[in-house]
Amino acid sequence: MKDFKARVEDFKKKFDKALAGAKDGKSLQELRNTYLSRKKGVVKSLLEELKAFKPEEKSKAGKMLNTLKNHVQKKLETAQKKFTAPETIEKKIDLTLPGEKKYWGAPHPVVLFQQKIENIFISMGFSIEEGPEIETDYYNFEALNFPPHHPARDDWDTLYLSDDLLLRTHTSPVQIRAMENRKPPIRIIVPGRVYRRETPDPTHLPMFYQVEGLVVDKGITFAHLKGTLEYFLKTLFYEKLKIRFRPSFFPFTEPSAEVDIECLVCRGEDDKCRVCKGTGWKEILGSGMVDPQVLKNVNIDPEKYSGFAFGMGIERTAMFAFQIPDMRYFFENDLRFIRQFTLK
Ligand code: PHE
Repeated sequence: MKDFKARVEDFKKKFDKALAGAKDGKSLQELRNTYLSRKKGVVKSLLEELKAFKPEEKSKAGKMLNTLKNHVQKKLETAQKKFTAPETIEKKIDLTLPGEKKYWGAPHPVVLFQQKIENIFISMGFSIEEGPEIETDYYNFEALNFPPHHPARDDWDTLYLSDDLLLRTHTSPVQIRAMENRKPPIRIIVPGRVYRRETPDPTHLPMFYQVEGLVVDKGITFAHLKGTLEYFLKTLFYEKLKIRFRPSFFPFTEPSAEVDIECLVCRGEDDKCRVCKGTGWKEILGSGMVDPQVLKNVNIDPEKYSGFAFGMGIERTAMFAFQIPDMRYFFENDLRFIRQFTLK
C-alpha cells in the first residue's frame, strides 16, 4: 500500500513535469493518452492493481487514484485553453500570406445631398418633418386642392393600393399633416421618398427623393420666399450663382414660380451645351405662396396667416451638381459609382 501511494505521487510529479514542457495541442493529446487512455493509460493500469487490495485499502487507494485522475484532467483542460487563446493564435499568423480585402462602404450620393440640404435649412431655423409613404387620396391630392378627376392629377399619377390608398407622389401631404397638427408659425422641410407612374429612363424613375419646405406665419410674402430660396441655393452651390423665378402653376400654390439656376456646366456660355440645351438655365425648384384654399382645408385662417412652399428632386439636383448622366445609376447599387462622391 505504501508503495502504491508513492507510485501515485511519483506519477503526479512526472505528469506535472511533462505538462510544464508541453508546447502545443499535440503534446497535450499525447499526455492525455499516456495518463487517461481507457485501455492502457497510467490511471487505468493502477486501477487494475486495486483488485489485489483488501477492502479498506481498496477504498483508500481508490481515492488516491481519483485525486490523480482529477488533477490530470483539470490541468490538461487549463493548458488546452491556453493553447487556443487568441494571443497564441495570433502568433501563428502567416505574415507572408496576402491580406484579406476589407469591404468599405460610402455614404450614398442621395444621402449626402439630402444631408447638405437639411443642414442649410436647419441653420435657418427649419425643423425636419417626416410622414407616411402610403397616403390617402385626401392628403396627396384633395387637401392640396386637386379635386377628383382634375386633369392636374395626371402630372402626379401614381400607383394605387386601393381607390383611396396610394403611394405618395410628393412629400406635400406631410405639409398638410403638419398644419393640421400644430399652429403657425410653422417652418419645416420634408425630405423623403416619393413615387410616380414612370418608366425608368435616364431622367425619370418611378421612385425618387424630394425635399419640400413650408413656412406659415403672419405676414409672410413672396419676398420671404425669394429671399429664403436665394440664400438656400447660393449656400448649396456658390455665392455668385445666378437665379431666376419663372411664373408657373401648381394647384396648391398661388402665385407659383419655378426657380431656375444658371447652368453649372457652361455657365450660359455654350449655346450647344448638352446639359442646359444651350439655354444657360436649369430648372431646380417648384415654389409658390400657399393657396388660401389649402390653408382653409386645415383650418388656418388665410385672412390672418399666409405662407410659402417649395419642392425639389434630390436626384435631379445631385445629377446636375455632380454631372451624372443617368438617374438609374443611383439605384443600381454599383459601389464603383457610389464611392465617388463627397461633399464639403
Ligand atoms: N409638390 C410639388 C412637386 O412634387 C413641388 C412643389 C412643392 C411645388 C411646393 C410648389 C410648392 O412637383
